[in-house]
Amino acid sequence: MTQQLRVYVPPHPLIKHWLAVARDATTPSVLFRSAITELGRWLTYEASREWLPTKDGTVQTPLDTCAATFIDAEVPMAVVPILRAGLGLLEGAQTLLPLASIYHLGLERNEETLQPSCYLNSMPEKFHPQTRVLITDPMLATGGSIMAAMSELVQRGVEPSLVRIVCVVASPPALQKLSAAYPNLIIYAATIDETLNDRGFIVPGLGDAGDRIFGT
Ligand code: PRP
Repeated sequence: MTQQLRVYVPPHPLIKHWLAVARDATTPSVLFRSAITELGRWLTYEASREWLPTKDGTVQTPLDTCAATFIDAEVPMAVVPILRAGLGLLEGAQTLLPLASIYHLGLERNEETLQPSCYLNSMPEKFHPQTRVLITDPMLATGGSIMAAMSELVQRGVEPSLVRIVCVVASPPALQKLSAAYPNLIIYAATIDETLNDRGFIVPGLGDAGDRIFGT
């Protein structure tokens, strides 16, 4: 069976609400940051549904013994925030994944060429092949940054089907690139916006998420 990239846009009122707040140009930084944190939380909740490793066991209740399911803490879990803007989604993600290791990846897109360059990579040389990886970045625009992040992970032994990408706005060019290179990848987005302008910004999008999160 041929694999196909899956992009989920969860129809959840909280995701829609915080997306609307984040899109609004009059939203100040402090509220924008909260909106992105909340989107990180709810999109991670959706993304972790069939991704978090579990194991079966039993618990003794005050009345009886019963079957129970636990998070399997022996399977390595990692979150890779793409700096800077991915840090905004990390906070909410981390509340749901307290056991995950955090590996920062600093990528900056050149304003003219739109090519990303890497200024920080805290990943280990090799990941355990069973490692679950969640990448956070609010925007997939031309797709250059997310493709660079995927390449760093796959080079280090990560299996693409165990990766989840949590983003706020995804654009078709980025999804096409990911689909061609990693057909068994799964993405969670608050929305898919159709247009990229000539500066590589997603339209309508939410502006420059990094600048709005950090007030720069
Ligand atoms: C933005 C955004 C993505 C990237 C998307 O980051 O957060 O990482 O651009 O663009 P692409 O899909 O065309 O590569 P930016 O480089 O502006 O850095 P910042 O997060 O530090 O502001």
